Amino acid sequence: MGVLISSSILNSDLANLEQELRRAEDAGADMIHIDVMDGVFTDSITFGDYVVGNLRPHAAIPFDTHLMVNDPTKLIPLFAKAGSDIITIHEESRCDVAACLKLIRGLGKKAGISINPETDVKRVFPYLELCDTVLIMSVKPGAGGQAFQNESINKIKAVRSEADRLGLKLDISVDGGINDKTAALIFEAGANIAVVGTFLLGSDDYIGAMLSIRIAGS
Ligand code: DX5
Ligand code: ZN
Repeated sequence: MGVLISSSILNSDLANLEQELRRAEDAGADMIHIDVMDGVFTDSITFGDYVVGNLRPHAAIPFDTHLMVNDPTKLIPLFAKAGSDIITIHEESRCDVAACLKLIRGLGKKAGISINPETDVKRVFPYLELCDTVLIMSVKPGAGGQAFQNESINKIKAVRSEADRLGLKLDISVDGGINDKTAALIFEAGANIAVVGTFLLGSDDYIGAMLSIRIAGS
């Protein structure tokens, strides 16, 4: 299974998102990672379904929507309608997690569950059959540009081994502090999707940086 790169727009030029999508797509990103923050689950507020709907015509690759919100229940149909392809909710959100995952799949979208760095990885195990992706946060949610937390490596291994035990072909995505070095570590541990933000955006060789992530997974 080849690795996939989900390019995060969080720290991109938000006044020029159309160009940012094109740049990511042209450089070979497999999907666009959209961090939705509600100002409650996280301090900041970022993108809503209206933004996703406006961006959708400007990229052909899937939108990987990461809902860092207190209660995703009412938002899921809105993001599905706006054009999100993967919708990921947090285990820590105040919602019926199983019902939300079923709702996402019922809307014809891929369902993801995410856990924060301090959350015990076993808390996602009851949901593995209800989701397509487990998104392991390797930083505290809420901001780009933080350092990768190494403890996430053991979580990746634990999820991969549980998915294998259950015979599930699960995507494991890792979000936060991914660069060419940490990408190699997460892919080695069993992840197959890297969410990458500031490593790409802060590089003076954007295409080369994208390539270096892909090489880390080969
Ligand atoms: C953090 C977000 C991340 C962020 C990653 O709350 O979920 O997706 O954009 O950015 P970097 O790659 O800079 O850690
Ligand atoms: Zn994210």
